[in-house]
Amino acid sequence: MTWDKNPSHKTRVGILYFSGAGNTECIATLIRNTLARREDYEAVFFERIRRALNIRALPEFDLLGIGFPIYFRKTPAIVFDTIGQLQERGRKVFTFCTKGMYSGNVAREVLSRCVASGVVPAVHFEAFMPGTDALILFARKGSWTEKLIKKMHSRHLDRKIDRFVQDVFNTEKISIPRSKWYTPLENRIVKPMEHLITRDYQVFKQGYHVLPDRCTRCLLCVRSCPEENIRLEDGKILFGNHCDLCLRCIHHCPTEAIQIGAKTLKTVRYRPAIPDFLDIPARDRNAGKGKGSPG
Ligand SMILES: Cc1cc2nc3c(=O)[nH]c(=O)nc-3n(C[C@H](O)[C@H](O)[C@H](O)COP(=O)(O)O)c2cc1C
Ligand code: SF4
Ligand code: SF4
Repeated sequence: MTWDKNPSHKTRVGILYFSGAGNTECIATLIRNTLARREDYEAVFFERIRRALNIRALPEFDLLGIGFPIYFRKTPAIVFDTIGQLQERGRKVFTFCTKGMYSGNVAREVLSRCVASGVVPAVHFEAFMPGTDALILFARKGSWTEKLIKKMHSRHLDRKIDRFVQDVFNTEKISIPRSKWYTPLENRIVKPMEHLITRDYQVFKQGYHVLPDRCTRCLLCVRSCPEENIRLEDGKILFGNHCDLCLRCIHHCPTEAIQIGAKTLKTVRYRPAIPDFLDIPARDRNAGKGKGSPG
């Protein structure tokens, strides 16, 4: 190990995560809860990544976890920028991400970024979670599509996270994975046809708007946008040009006032909670409800 342990001999662990609707927040919370069962662990921070986050002001740590969702087969730029600010030379980092379906070469991309920033990537974990994009774009409330998408998540997540946390402590360093063997094929065949698959995503370009009669001006969207891209001006909620498409505002607006074009008028709003993803009996679910609910 290349860093000094703190005097209490406990490993000080900090977790930074980015999360839109809340899937990654649930996984980050599960990891934190699993870590908390260890005697050799001390939590020093647990923070959602936002543009305004000051990395330099975070408490001292020995081990850092970085979590994020996959957007368009990439690491969100805000996460990339955050890793770029790390100057904790030689410190161990573990990464985890959530995805609706396919993460492409994200592991390679993010671990390379860690190495370039001088931190040592130790373990990387990926979990399937319901596609927050698919729910807002394609799933009408109460439809079979909603039910299907919500069921599409990794099974035995608690066991997988237990194992991951053990690996976090036992692994010194991993090597950067190679580019997926099918990447050249994907670039040549899939990418040129991609507009056919993703044409529904063009709706994102229309941007967000707010239905004035539904908006209560609670300002939740303003407070929770990671890019500070939403403001109240002359009694109206307005959006700027720095959107990550994390969909937090649209999924979390309590009155469903936020829309993208007309497409989202009847589609699902999604706020995940940890018990939705665990193999726990129904009677025990309420005990855990809320613990991982994004704020
Ligand atoms: C704009 C957007 C693009 C997405 N692109 C991908 C993708 O390329 N591959 C994938 O597997 N999932 C994709 N997803 C699904 C998310 O990665 C997945 O739902 C994730 O768990 C969301 O986490 P969050 O709630 O923490 O933001 C996308 C979601 C959004 C909102
Ligand atoms: S969260 Fe919804 S209701 Fe609250 S201010 Fe934003 S748009 Fe209006
Ligand atoms: S405007 Fe909405 S979707 Fe865009 S970054 Fe802010 S919260 Fe996320």
